[in-house]
Amino acid sequence: MSANPVEYSDIQGLVRFGYGALTQASFLLLEIRDRRAAAAWLASAPVSNAVELDTPPQTALQVALTYPGLQTLGVPQPVLAGFSDEFQSGMWGQENRSRRLGDVGASAPAAWTWGGPDKVPHVVVMAYAQRAVDTFIDSIKGAAWDTAFRFIESLSTTDLDGVEPFGFTDGISQPTLDWERRRTTEDQLKYTNVACLGEFLLGYANEYGHYTDRPLLTNDPGNSSLPTAEDAPDMRDLGRNGTYLVLRQIQQDVRGFWQFVNGQAGGDPQTRERLASAMVGRTRDGEPLAPLSNSPIPGVTPGKPSNQFTYDSDVDGTRCPFGAHVRRSNPRNADFPDGTTGFFSKIAYDLGLKHVEIRQDIKSSTRFHRLLRRGREYGPALSPEQALQPGYPDKAEHGLHFICLNANLSRQFEFVQSAWIMSSKFNGMTGETDPLLGNRLPVANAQPTDSFLLSQESGLARRISGVPRFVTVRGGAYFFLPGIKALKFLATAYGAK
Ligand code: HEM
Repeated sequence: MSANPVEYSDIQGLVRFGYGALTQASFLLLEIRDRRAAAAWLASAPVSNAVELDTPPQTALQVALTYPGLQTLGVPQPVLAGFSDEFQSGMWGQENRSRRLGDVGASAPAAWTWGGPDKVPHVVVMAYAQRAVDTFIDSIKGAAWDTAFRFIESLSTTDLDGVEPFGFTDGISQPTLDWERRRTTEDQLKYTNVACLGEFLLGYANEYGHYTDRPLLTNDPGNSSLPTAEDAPDMRDLGRNGTYLVLRQIQQDVRGFWQFVNGQAGGDPQTRERLASAMVGRTRDGEPLAPLSNSPIPGVTPGKPSNQFTYDSDVDGTRCPFGAHVRRSNPRNADFPDGTTGFFSKIAYDLGLKHVEIRQDIKSSTRFHRLLRRGREYGPALSPEQALQPGYPDKAEHGLHFICLNANLSRQFEFVQSAWIMSSKFNGMTGETDPLLGNRLPVANAQPTDSFLLSQESGLARRISGVPRFVTVRGGAYFFLPGIKALKFLATAYGAK
């Protein structure tokens, strides 16, 4: 693996920073009205890069485009063909995809307020600020903005102080990117929280040691502003330092969630809290239900709430249910169960010569399915107590603008969403999908998915049935978050013509 240094100045900042200190954020969804005016704006937009500054910035700007956006900008077909199939078809482009992602029933794209049929934005402009984000947005528009773009929607966000609308601390567990490019094949033989850069940036080697497909252009002088492709030095890399950005507006029924949990708990506050935490896999303060690991895990920074755990010490799911949201969305060391981490035991395990629990054996390697989450909440705060109070005034919508970055949409976001979160067979279970995110619709063979199995330390599991749907997808799209040179190139080489 080449250890070429990383070009932070060419990477959009969101790949490296969550911009947590910039508590105000607004995501503008736009359609390109005038190609040349839009290209002129894109070419000069003050996009923030991933260089760490001595004085943290007070504002940040990120820009990403959908496939129809690139088409409208005039990017030629042979270049467009270099992007991944999922990006080309879009989040709802195929019925099969919508079904796998769980976007059916009330969450079907036809009902989305944006991103569905005839409502796909071309561009998302993501503005972050310490204060007065609207003033910041006004400052970056420039004279040609109204000629360039038709405004579709502004996704506003709320600072809930690190807590998502149901009331749980969020943004704790993230993969640690191997910015130094030191990860070796040997490191991959044991469970760590470190991920190769190529999992989150195009143009770098991924966990397979390969380079994810992306548009490569010839070495013509006209393409010389693009970086050279690391794996094909005679080509220019339009993907390098870019990645795919998934944006999904997920409405949360905060009242419905707490009322259901409270009903199941017979109104007992402690039981209610325990059940809600079991559905998430962490307490509201963020502490994991699975026991903490005694030894450090590479790539996990010690801190509170803690992220130093695997499911090794909870193989039968008595502490953290198998179906809990965090266990589904990252089963952690599922591919390295206890006793399989040495070189020879790993080989024996891979050859099937080692006894492992069937549950451990049916999950795929987690390191190929990591997500870098960058979402922001929207709607006012509604505490569990307020949600349970009859007649408490609550007319506003609550939810999460779920955002994640990944270099391979199908192997990362789509896999996590469909094979783990929405799967009624995850971990050998039946009758349930993710307790927070499931759409509760029966699967093809009419098998219900509206239960939640709460295994308990007594060994007796309690099956909770009739779990309602707590979330509705209101919009979504796949974007390409280009490297900054690539963004300028797209604007000047194609859009300006
Ligand atoms: C309204 C929607 C959602 C809510 C309320 C929610 C809530 C949470 C909470 C409270 C955590 C634990 C805190 C943390 O570890 O950072 C978490 C973790 C996580 N969520 Fe979600 N989430 C939502 C949607 C999604 C979606 C759509 C995905 C992926 C497709 C996802 C993937 C993850 C992942 C990967 C983790 C970290 C798991 C780990 O590494 O332990 N979440 N989420």
